[in-house]
Amino acid sequence: MNIGKIIIVIGVSGVGKTTIAQNLGKQLGLPFIDADDFHPMQNIKKMESGSPLNDDDRKPWLEKINVALNEYKSTTGVVLACSALKESYRKLLGKDLGSAIHWVVLSGSFELIKNRMESRNHFMPSDLLKSQFDTWEEPDYGMKVDVSHSPEVIVDFVNEKINMKGKAEIGLIGLGVMGKSLSRNIAGKGFAISVFNRHVDGQEVDVAKLFAAEHEEMNPELAFDDLSAFVESLAAPKTVFLMVNAGAAVDAVIEGLCEHLSDGDVIIDGGNSHFKDTERRFHALKEKGIQFIGTGVSGGEEGALKGPSIMPGGSSQAFDSVGPILKAIAAKDSAGTDCCAFIGKGGSGHFVKMVHNGIEYAEMQLIAEVYAVLRYGMSKTPAEISAIFSDWMKTDVTSYLLEITADILQKKEGEKYLIDLILDKAGNKGTGSWTTIAACELGVAIPTMTAALFARYQSSQLDMRLKASEIYASANVDIAFDLGKLKAAYQMARIVNHHQGYDLIATASEHYGWDINYDDLSRIWTNGCIIRSRLMEAISKAKLEQGNILMNPKLNAEVLVSRGALNDLSAVLSKTNISAPCMLSALSYLNGYVEKRSLAHIIQAQRDYFGAHTYERVDAPRGEKFHTNWLS
Ligand code: 6PG
Repeated sequence: MNIGKIIIVIGVSGVGKTTIAQNLGKQLGLPFIDADDFHPMQNIKKMESGSPLNDDDRKPWLEKINVALNEYKSTTGVVLACSALKESYRKLLGKDLGSAIHWVVLSGSFELIKNRMESRNHFMPSDLLKSQFDTWEEPDYGMKVDVSHSPEVIVDFVNEKINMKGKAEIGLIGLGVMGKSLSRNIAGKGFAISVFNRHVDGQEVDVAKLFAAEHEEMNPELAFDDLSAFVESLAAPKTVFLMVNAGAAVDAVIEGLCEHLSDGDVIIDGGNSHFKDTERRFHALKEKGIQFIGTGVSGGEEGALKGPSIMPGGSSQAFDSVGPILKAIAAKDSAGTDCCAFIGKGGSGHFVKMVHNGIEYAEMQLIAEVYAVLRYGMSKTPAEISAIFSDWMKTDVTSYLLEITADILQKKEGEKYLIDLILDKAGNKGTGSWTTIAACELGVAIPTMTAALFARYQSSQLDMRLKASEIYASANVDIAFDLGKLKAAYQMARIVNHHQGYDLIATASEHYGWDINYDDLSRIWTNGCIIRSRLMEAISKAKLEQGNILMNPKLNAEVLVSRGALNDLSAVLSKTNISAPCMLSALSYLNGYVEKRSLAHIIQAQRDYFGAHTYERVDAPRGEKFHTNWLS
């Protein structure tokens, strides 16, 4: 079926919509229509009587235009000039138009437009123009055009971009759950996207075509299982977003792609790749003239569709060109800014995503440990625990993970809680263990994150646990613990967990010369990602010095208050049979972090005793080495 192009030129009164739209129509051979010609009689009468239209008046008008646009979509296509100042108007205008629609967003400063109108003797009272600017909700999608250029330049620019639209602005390879959601997000934001999924006989057949046919925002003409046709469909410089399984598959796809790409083209890897692989690919591709971005994408399936947190690293030049797409599809923070910021060169984007997942592991485990205290120590039902978590959600400890756990705990199958039917063996895909390995390589202590990882490993020894429980298990001890204190201890452990994550990132940034901006990083983790939380918002507002959380004056006030709660909880926990490695490690870490004299003098003495490894002395200059003959 033919799909006609629907070009909608929008912007405030006086910005030049009609001129641009008419000229575009001429150049592209498309009819031109003006939104004003669609007003129903009652609107015309109202305007003639000097009364402004309200949104109720506008609704039937916009719906009428939308019907016309849909007719043009199945015939010639069209260019429409319409102010479409608000997002709600644009929603009505764009209904059912899917990928046929091309928004051309004209913008200029108040002064520029006022002067222009005056020079054309077209007087518009300042108040009226001001109200247009006040109402204007600039879309975060579409083709942005600065009207300070001449109409000829603007029309040529838009024309070129629209022609390019036969070609896609970006291509995505790998239509798994995340790839599909990201593709729909990109298409929904008005970008022309080609999608590719490999063909595997009997297993993966017409995946791209079927997916594109199923979702109206996708363009079925831009769905491929032939790599060369897919790359051919992309406008130059070609940008390809990979959403394939981390590891060898990424290398294989890159190798195949390189046969079709040329100098200046861009590859983005959005999977959970290891940062060292990203570093290696970045350099290898640079040699071939191809720009590489390794980006963390967090938020799961829903986030990918509605707005993930995006952590790109690698080629800053490539980010300059592809940044607008990544920013447009990202979640927005509380100020409405995109949760996407360039992290740094090389593998830095994937490094911070890896640490995000390390923090995520411990956030999940800490919730599980609080659950254990309430369920096994205090005999609460899952529904009661869910209610407690729901109360906590109204406070500073709230987080996405706490919210979903409150939901999970309510879910029943018949009389039984679903949570009681789920096998107690935790899976993992690798990022948590990479975090611990990276910490060991860089010499950073992250025991709370590692404890969460090891708890997952330990859980998988199910058969052994069942046997051991017969020999060792003793009855659980009933505990009474104040809920407010439990919440404070939980928050304390979370702060320690986040501190460890940032410490690892800061050390890596220094080591690899990434120069990571902690304000940007914290801000893009306030929404879209799995570890989004009110604590992350506080961290973002606290403006970390060198990524340090525990020494930050805005954050350590809470530590000073809540440390005792973690002490008390740990004391109570140690009288039970509850395994709570994250809570206990957080306390130990905190004690170790603040102690004036660590136990390392004993270790150093032992090392010197059996291996003559030498030690430094408190009463001698740093760096001077001593050895003692301990037996003499
Ligand atoms: C995210 C998630 C996502 C996923 C990880 C961890 O940020 O959207 O972290 O990347 O949950 O793959 O999975 P595992 O728990 O299986 O290691």
